[in-house]
Formats: sequence, structure tokens, C-alpha cells
Amino acid sequence: MDQKIQKIQELKKEKRAVIMAHYYVKDEVQEIADYVGDSYFLSEMATKIDADIIVLCGVAFMGESAKILNPEKKVLLPAADADCPMAHMASVERIEEVRNMYKDVAIVCYVNSTAELKAASDVCVTSANALKIVKALPNRNIYFIPDQNLAHYIAEQLPEKHFIFNDGFCHVHHYITAAQIQAAKQARPEALVLVHPECQSEVTALADYVGSTSGIIKYASESDAKEFIVSTEIGVLYELKRRNPDKRFYTAGNMQICPNMKKISLDKVIDVLEHEEAEVCMKAELMENAHKPMLRMLELAAN
Ligand code: 13P
Ligand code: SF4
Repeated sequence: MDQKIQKIQELKKEKRAVIMAHYYVKDEVQEIADYVGDSYFLSEMATKIDADIIVLCGVAFMGESAKILNPEKKVLLPAADADCPMAHMASVERIEEVRNMYKDVAIVCYVNSTAELKAASDVCVTSANALKIVKALPNRNIYFIPDQNLAHYIAEQLPEKHFIFNDGFCHVHHYITAAQIQAAKQARPEALVLVHPECQSEVTALADYVGSTSGIIKYASESDAKEFIVSTEIGVLYELKRRNPDKRFYTAGNMQICPNMKKISLDKVIDVLEHEEAEVCMKAELMENAHKPMLRMLELAAN
């Protein structure tokens, strides 16, 4: 066995640690993780894990979510500086303004957000459950933060709701263009187009399937088609190819890379397990307030 992998196995055992990873991290990290999934899977799984330490191979908001759901466990982030810019693209002040403008408003917070934003919200969602959860809310007015593209994608399907939009976006998905998808489709006319809802509406309009990263993997794995153009971060190609060695997967350009997700390496996993330094810590009050909308998400998603 590779020396680094062996070291990780030993440290995991010694410290009763579990390694969780998002589909966007490097292949080598997905390979050694105990659980790999999308944001919803990671949040849900974090509530079921029997371990003393969770090593969260992902960006800061993912570590915070795991900690909020497991206050008694130690959550470590191998790359302490791996942050998601979109997680900061909303403000508590604006949430309060919107609350004053619309008395029945529900503040719906995509989990790709800071703990402070979650704490000021009514319910959290991920891309895998946003439609189901917003649909189930009794409120007509919905302030959806921080992602404008996911908000528009959900709003199009729920005309009975009134959405107040926020201008946040994920730079990886937002800058995939319709022209790139069309060019990829011209080069591979047989390929189906799979799009993450963080992409802009002119891109989702070209999709054969729109869904979260786990939704994309499931759809491609169950499809009879043999070729796919994948409009999300390239990390998903690892799992897509692993599950479907006979199928072909293409991207729509060469920019589908999240630099923050790629900061996590095997060396950093070893380091964080050895020294336990990059621990996710939040004030108890913040964790309690952020826990409520996270729990509401898990309840509504399970129904
Ligand atoms: P999902 O994990 O919900 O597909 O979201 C993608 C993403 O951008 C995570 O950072
Ligand atoms: Fe944030 Fe986008 Fe990277 Fe996900 S892919 S962590 S939303 S920047």
C-alpha cells in the first residue's frame, strides 16, 4: 500500500476518525475517504457517524455544517484556508431588511453559506432538496440566499411563490456559458447535457438533466446513453468514470475547477490528523441558531 495511504489508515484507527469528502476534491482524496458525496449527503451522514473526529475534505461551510450538526465531535478541515466565495455573498443586514418588507417571508439559505447567514435564516437547503423544501413551505414570499442561479431555477418551477433574489453566485458554475455547451454538443451530438443548477438559466435551458452533483452521477449511471457533457466542477468525473467505465464524459471548457476544493491533498489530511490543529470552532449561540434551519432541512427533506 502507498505509504501516505497507510499512514492515513493508521491515524484514522488510532484517533477514531472518519474522513468525509465532497465530489469536487482531488481524485486521490476521494479515493481515501470513508464517505464521498454531495453537500446534502455529507450533512445527513454527519448526523449518523460514530467517530470522535470528522475530517471534512471540503470548504469551510462544509466543516461548519458538520460541526453544527455534531457539536460534540471534533471536526477538522485539512485545508483551513479553503473557503467558498459564494458563502459570503449575502448579508444578515439585508435579511433583516427583507424580513421587515415582507411579513410572511421565509429566509431560505443554501448550505453554501456561512454559519452567520444560516443562523439568521428559517431553513437551509442544498441543490438536491431545494425544490422539495421550498415547495413544502407555507410561505408565499421566499428570500433565497446566497445563490441567484439556484434561486431562479427553483422559482421557475414554483410560480405560486414570490421570490426575492440575491445576487450571489458560484464563480465555477456561473461562468460556464451557453456557447460552450453548444460547442461541446456540436462536437459530440450524441451526448446528453448534465447541468448543475448553480449554472445560469441559459445553460440549464440546454440541459437534458439538471441536478445536484449526486443527481448528475445517478442520472448518468442509470442512463442508456454512452456520452455526456458535464456542466459542473470536474471533480465529479472521478465518480462518474469509476461507476461507468464504459461511458464517456466531457466538460464544456477547461475552467470547471474550484480552486478551493483542490487545496485539499493527502499530505494535508495526514497533517490535520497528526496535529489536530485546524479544528472548526464556533460560539455556542451561533451553533444553536444555525442548527435550527439545518435540522428543519433534514426533517423536510426526509418527508
Ligand atoms: P452540491 O454538493 O449540492 O451538488 O453543490 C455543489 C457545490 O457547489 C458544493 O460546493
Ligand atoms: Fe463554492 Fe462553487 Fe467552489 Fe462549490 S464549487 S465551493 S459553490 S466556489
